[in-house]
Amino acid sequence: MDINPKFETKMADATYRELLQTYQGQLLPPDHVLTRHIARVTSRLLESSNLGTLRSVEPHKAGLGRTEDVAPGVGGREWTLMVVHDDKVPNAMTAYGNVVVFTGILPIAKDEDGLAAVLGHEIGHTVARHTSERYSSSKFLIIVVQALSALTGIDFGLTRMASTLLLELPNNRTQEYEADKLGLQIMAKACYDPQAAPAMFQRLGQLEGGRKFDFLSTHPISDKRTKELEALLPEAYEARAASAACAGMAKPRMGAGETEPLLGRTDDEFEDVDFNLWTNLISGPAFMAQIGGVALVVAIWASIFMHKLSLFSAHPLLNSLGIALLLESTLMLQPTNTAAQKRKGAIVHSILNSIAFLAMYSAFIIVIIAKSRKHEHHFTSAHSVFGIITYILILMQATVGMIQFYFPSLVGGKEKAKSIYKYHRISGYIIFVFIIMTAIAVTYTDFVAHVLKIRTWFVVLCSAFVLAGVLPRVEPTKFGF
Ligand code: HEM
Repeated sequence: MDINPKFETKMADATYRELLQTYQGQLLPPDHVLTRHIARVTSRLLESSNLGTLRSVEPHKAGLGRTEDVAPGVGGREWTLMVVHDDKVPNAMTAYGNVVVFTGILPIAKDEDGLAAVLGHEIGHTVARHTSERYSSSKFLIIVVQALSALTGIDFGLTRMASTLLLELPNNRTQEYEADKLGLQIMAKACYDPQAAPAMFQRLGQLEGGRKFDFLSTHPISDKRTKELEALLPEAYEARAASAACAGMAKPRMGAGETEPLLGRTDDEFEDVDFNLWTNLISGPAFMAQIGGVALVVAIWASIFMHKLSLFSAHPLLNSLGIALLLESTLMLQPTNTAAQKRKGAIVHSILNSIAFLAMYSAFIIVIIAKSRKHEHHFTSAHSVFGIITYILILMQATVGMIQFYFPSLVGGKEKAKSIYKYHRISGYIIFVFIIMTAIAVTYTDFVAHVLKIRTWFVVLCSAFVLAGVLPRVEPTKFGF
């Protein structure tokens, strides 16, 4: 069906406004680390294939400045990007050069190459003008809208209605194949690894497991599709070899898998200069965790210093300091996406954890000495039982982490070390639970109940805040099962 470019421009703007309104309040700000990361990958894809530029990720600026007679999002025109903060929606879509990425797709994309595969595919839909094609099923509506607005110059809100309809129309199988093919070429020309595309779709298929994923309803996955993608790989690798943008690249760019954070790559550059790990500490729900963590630590430190200090005082002081550091180092890695981010994150994570480990183990030695001096029995309270389990788990966690990161050869090489990383991640969260139990149980000890007077409800409340900040950012797909 023939839709004139002028009308397409109108539709693009209407779609853009529609999207803005729909996701109002959920859009990540332009300076958010994820928006910048996705924008950078999108720009790289667009520019290396000469498809235009990503003007701005700022809602009020994007969407302006389109040339009236060229279809938006195609042939050197302006594209827009919105990143919707919704981890439960593993989806991405495009309509007339408006690219929408839901944060839920990121764990499935897994790394920068996987993200390039998702975006390349979406850009492919726009390049092939599937948006307009999809209208063939609503021809009548479009003809009416087009005619009315041409005749009267007034929109009647119909453009908007049509754009809503458009967003709900799935692509057909042929269009999906076309977008797959174009997507591979687009990502290859930007020097991403085309192999990431079939791998990403396979992951998506595996993840489905009966659950309904939005991306799947419009992008059905089948073995046939993965095979088709794999068959297209040689062509994509040729495109990458021929791409001017990839000239001088010593070797294919490899993805930064989820298994990598603790495993350094010698050729890993800190290319992601914009990425700021510290933003992760307060972005999204992390803010809640900070409130809970700070409140708990301040309460412990304040009450300790308000009482007579002794050798034992170092136990709660050092332990709460350790807990705070563990919390920060966990939040910092939630999330990291590119290889550079992961490596930076892993280094800071290991430094903070080492300090936390030293602080907490010093606290352990101190409490043992303090209690022994008074000839008190050891490990009699619930707090001390949870505490000793926590210490053992922390010791095991630190040992495994160190081996994975610094001495992978001890477990049979990097590959083996990578394969056990998911367990390290899970046990990290289990330790988190034990720390919370230990902290709650401490309110039942005589010292805390009668001297410090820190109440159980207060620790429970602080813990709830911490969990509310940490849990929503846990990405189950990163556990690798
Ligand atoms: C996750 C952090 C913590 C761990 C792993 C931990 C661990 C332990 C352990 C293993 C003991 C038993 C020592 C023994 O029986 O010889 C103990 C005792 C004690 N801890 Fe902690 N502790 C932590 C945090 C705290 C905090 C924050 C406070 C105070 C606010 C505190 C107060 C006490 C007290 C009063 C005792 C002596 C009473 C008892 O033995 O149950 N602890 N801790």
